[in-house]
Amino acid sequence: MNEHPTSSFSSKFGLIMAAAGSAVGLGNIWKFPYIAGENGGGAFLIIYLICVILFGLPMVLTEFLIGKRSGKSVYGAFNELKENNHWHWLGWLCMMSAFLIMGFYFLVTGWCFNYLVEAIGNVFHGLDSEALAAHFTEVSGNKLRMIGFGLIPVVLTAVVLWFDVNKGIERLSKILMPLLLLMMILMAIRVLMLDGSNAGVQFFFNVDFTKVTPKVILEAMGQCFFSLSIGMGALITYGAYMPKNQSATYTSIQVISLDTIVALLAGVIIFPAVFAFGFNPAEGPQLVFVVLPAVFEQMSFAWLSSVLFFILLCIAALTSTISLMEVAVAFITEASKGRLNRQHSVLITSAIVIVLIVVCTVIPQSFDVFDKLTACIMLPIGALGMSLFVGWSLPAKNGKGVLRADKGARYWFGKVYIFMLRWLVPVAILLVLLNSLGIFK
Ligand code: PFF
Repeated sequence: MNEHPTSSFSSKFGLIMAAAGSAVGLGNIWKFPYIAGENGGGAFLIIYLICVILFGLPMVLTEFLIGKRSGKSVYGAFNELKENNHWHWLGWLCMMSAFLIMGFYFLVTGWCFNYLVEAIGNVFHGLDSEALAAHFTEVSGNKLRMIGFGLIPVVLTAVVLWFDVNKGIERLSKILMPLLLLMMILMAIRVLMLDGSNAGVQFFFNVDFTKVTPKVILEAMGQCFFSLSIGMGALITYGAYMPKNQSATYTSIQVISLDTIVALLAGVIIFPAVFAFGFNPAEGPQLVFVVLPAVFEQMSFAWLSSVLFFILLCIAALTSTISLMEVAVAFITEASKGRLNRQHSVLITSAIVIVLIVVCTVIPQSFDVFDKLTACIMLPIGALGMSLFVGWSLPAKNGKGVLRADKGARYWFGKVYIFMLRWLVPVAILLVLLNSLGIFK
């Protein structure tokens, strides 16, 4: 335990906010709307919500419990619970997923910082839909500028992790979350009052089952894992810092609810605006960056609203990058067996991330490959591994004991949880993966 890089969070609320901070991020506000837009809106939404129910609770809880019970990072957690096991690879998979995600996630966080600076300079004022789209293409095409802006969040994240986890993450998250929610609710109300917004509401909430293809199912599952930060040990890492008297079960429910509410709110802001302003819902990764500035133009206090929103978006992204980088930092520190301290690991991780950011900028295809490879393959395999590890491989006393590490769990809940973990989760993940390979045609 003393190899562990930090002490625990100082309050239960702090841990909930930090875990929610990890979950709520660009995945909800940037990725969810564009993936939903590309995959038929309502059809995607319904599959996404089914995935959240099916995978969300068992997997968020499982990760918290593995962390809480082992007190280790993903490097040592699996060994700690079962000695001489063959599950060591899971820790390595988690760390690799973390690095690949960081490669593109920091880049998009850099876009957010770029937009924040431009919002402060009132650059979007008076631009119509076409001009906003052209603006994004121009900005994102400037590779040097994008690398430069990508470095800002790397430095900020490294600074937070350099010092102690609990103080940095806790303080930031406690203030941010409520403010972000409030701001998004105000934006949703404004957007719903726009002429022509109805078509967007229809698009987002009307389920057309003919649009549900294997690709939609795979992407919805991937988005669920990505958005809830599951399948790569971020929540194992945080679970290790969980105060022992905190209920992992209730914490999981709170984190999942918050994450889902923010994703839904993002959809309710983006799609009505897309239709009201004549954008294309399948615009791709630039969707929110072209739509949001148009939304702010319609709001009272346009300048202030957009600046405030982009500040919140940057911080929401940062609380996620902190959790992503913490997975790697905790892994490296623990794996070095005392040779490297936390600060060394932060430096090594940051250096690798900078290389990955450059790769994603210089070879644009790698952005897409990292994104799809992690969300649709590596995170599901990570989650599959964890569910089999806890559900089947741990000796019964430890398997159920994982849940016993939790104060709030009821007996019946334990039964349902173990059933989901042993059967529902692994079978569903396998079916979705095989289905996407076209096996069931
Ligand atoms: N859940 C984050 C988001 O929705 O933006 C992204 C993320 C963070 C994924 C941490 C995975 C992770 F471990």
